[in-house]
Amino acid sequence: MDKDAGSIERVFNSGAGAIVTKSIGLKPRNGFPNPTVIELEHGILNAIGLPNPGIDNFKEELLKLKKLNIPVIGSIFGSDYKEFVTLAEKMQNYGVNALELNLSCPHAKGYGLEIGCDPNLVKEITFKVKKSTKIPVFVKISPNLANITEVAKSAEEGNADGIVAINTVKAMKIDLELQMPVLSNKIGGYSGNAVKPIGIRCVYEISKNIDIPIIGVGGITTGKDAIEYFMAGASAVQVGSAIYYRGLDVFKKICDEIKIWMKHHEYNNLSDLIGAAHK
Ligand SMILES: Cc1cc2nc3c(=O)[nH]c(=O)nc-3n(C[C@H](O)[C@H](O)[C@H](O)COP(=O)(O)O)c2cc1C
Repeated sequence: MDKDAGSIERVFNSGAGAIVTKSIGLKPRNGFPNPTVIELEHGILNAIGLPNPGIDNFKEELLKLKKLNIPVIGSIFGSDYKEFVTLAEKMQNYGVNALELNLSCPHAKGYGLEIGCDPNLVKEITFKVKKSTKIPVFVKISPNLANITEVAKSAEEGNADGIVAINTVKAMKIDLELQMPVLSNKIGGYSGNAVKPIGIRCVYEISKNIDIPIIGVGGITTGKDAIEYFMAGASAVQVGSAIYYRGLDVFKKICDEIKIWMKHHEYNNLSDLIGAAHK
């Protein structure tokens, strides 16, 4: 979830297997004014508004990461398939190993969820990006959907190589004294511990209905959280908010905890856990 080569390198060196960039668009964007991120009782609420340097200014950072041999998944957002294709081709030229299409940001007008709720658009964007690139394409979908399975299926029909689930959950915090929403954008996306059961349910439902791999994300803080996602049907996981709670070495800690759990339960292969809860 970062956009700067130095901090990405630190995350990688602390044990992550690959890095997903902050979502990048065609033009530089400042994002929303503060307050944009607040810590709540059981998670983090944010509406930062997709701030990013724009794809052309991101080239240098990506080339640095390529030199360092760090596996990078380039996350992109656009308002239509043409923007997604332009971004995807540039990301590929700048050396990323895979693409993640952000079709699920809950708080940016004209982008993300506003497009990602339409199965036809999801299929069209995925198909066009797949046709114009050679690297794997993952489609990140939203939990804020009544038709989450239909949207995942559309991505699969558009030839996606995998589904990433979930992005943040639409939420709000009100300041009692000011009697108004805390975030400048009023509505934001909730992440961290509290959203894990929602992510687990989404991965479980999606994996019942599609054949491509799922990358699980949402509230993973410990090795056991990751194992729960594997059992729900995820083949890999991403970790975001837990960096805030457990520090940068959270990746190594989670890997160690997974190994300990597997040893204790006499599992030699992680693949034996994938989808184990589908009985
Ligand atoms: C501060 C913040 C910024 C985020 N930025 C992005 C983003 O640029 N693109 C994206 O697809 N998801 C973004 N996310 C969502 C995360 O990638 C992830 O899907 C979500 O936070 C749930 O995982 P977690 O509970 O491990 O954080 C962001 C989340 C947070 C908290």
